[in-house]
Amino acid sequence: MTAIFPGSFDPVTLGHIDIVKRGALLFDRIVIAVLHNPSKSPLFTIQERINLLQAEVSDITGVSIDTYMGLLAEFAKAQNARYILRGVRTEADCAYEIPMAQANRKLGKGLETIILAADPIFGYMSSGLIREIAAAGYASSNGEVKFDDSALDQWVSPAVKHMLRNKFSNKEL
Ligand code: PNS
Repeated sequence: MTAIFPGSFDPVTLGHIDIVKRGALLFDRIVIAVLHNPSKSPLFTIQERINLLQAEVSDITGVSIDTYMGLLAEFAKAQNARYILRGVRTEADCAYEIPMAQANRKLGKGLETIILAADPIFGYMSSGLIREIAAAGYASSNGEVKFDDSALDQWVSPAVKHMLRNKFSNKEL
């Protein structure tokens, strides 16, 4: 059984990786699908997001990475996948995921979404909040980083932290 694990991954968090690892126990093959949406301006380029993901999942059997544009249901069909894998942290996530799962089931003619409850240690963290913390923390008017970024270690890998620091150091908000 193949599942698509889709998302923006801007950037990948340890919460995403936890879902991939747990998904890998349920599915033979997981395709991590990075949405390439030209109308959005992400912090990380598609290649940077792929590289960061690759470093995190290289030791998990059956996991590969791809990108898609347009409808997720079409990508799933092209991959011969009948399942989508998603993680939810909060009620708000459920409210977002359920209509999407219902629509994908119709669009994908039975494409089912398997939703895993996030481990509570990742319960409140998101890529968006990580970007906000890094932007505010690393920005410094005199080019000197004063932010004690050790708190980021509980949410992102050292490689992601390094990339965030590079993106935001020496930049004004
Ligand atoms: O990480 P995200 O941003 O929460 O992931 C959302 C994502 C990328 C899975 C979703 O927006 C998506 O698949 N968009 C592609 C367009 C699509 O198929 N939309 C219909 C879903 S009902």
